[in-house]
Amino acid sequence: MSYITAEKNLDTEPGENLRIWADKFLTAKGGEFDKISPADVKNLVLELKMHQAQLEMQNEELHRAEAEVQHSLEKLTKALDGTVLALANTVEMRDPYTAGHQRRVAQLACAIAREMGFSAERVEGMRVLGCLHDIGKIAIPAEILSKPGRISPMEFTLIKDHPRMGYEIIKDIDFPFPLAKGILQHHERLNGSGYPLGISGPDIILEARILGVADVVEAMASHRPYRMALGIDQALEEISRNRGILYDPEVVDICLKIFTEKGFSFST
Ligand SMILES: [Fe+2]
Repeated sequence: MSYITAEKNLDTEPGENLRIWADKFLTAKGGEFDKISPADVKNLVLELKMHQAQLEMQNEELHRAEAEVQHSLEKLTKALDGTVLALANTVEMRDPYTAGHQRRVAQLACAIAREMGFSAERVEGMRVLGCLHDIGKIAIPAEILSKPGRISPMEFTLIKDHPRMGYEIIKDIDFPFPLAKGILQHHERLNGSGYPLGISGPDIILEARILGVADVVEAMASHRPYRMALGIDQALEEISRNRGILYDPEVVDICLKIFTEKGFSFST
């Protein structure tokens, strides 16, 4: 941010300031030096000093205003963080087996986004998307979410509706990121075999393609009610095998690079 800068102090650098007002003054006096009296000079110096004082005051006001805006922004960011966390916790309280899943998906999705050169704001959007992508599970009966063992086709139909439910919950929030769309599309697959819309290829937004990879890797690497954790090696094998089929090839390559070359691991 730039500010109006006060002219330099008359007491320390008189020559520069004198030149500024002398130009104006001479123009006013028709360029006739002999018409300039000592009183004229004194008045103009006073005028310049007043002008300098005004600029310094404006400068101070701008600094104060900027500090207030910064403070408000920090408060808003904290409030948003708190809201996102509260929403994420609400889903995970009803689904204890996947507690922490959304946060860990967010970690991996952000690491992929950073590696893909996303701006800081877009990475932050990915973090929120990761933290809230399963918000629609709030509409699914808790008995289904926490059921040990296999789920029935009917129960799976209900579960498959969670991206759409999440979209409905989030869609009216004016967020500077395709949050609702990312939630809606996070189970879509590159070849059109996903749900709920069955869209394919570039019709799936990049944010959802990243989230889809981060989601499946975290889910396979973690324990589930109906199976033990398969481990990160099997998760990476799954995305490699389906690279370009179910998952975006570039996103898969970057995800593999993050684990094998950059030493990424989920924090507990
Ligand atoms: Fe999901």
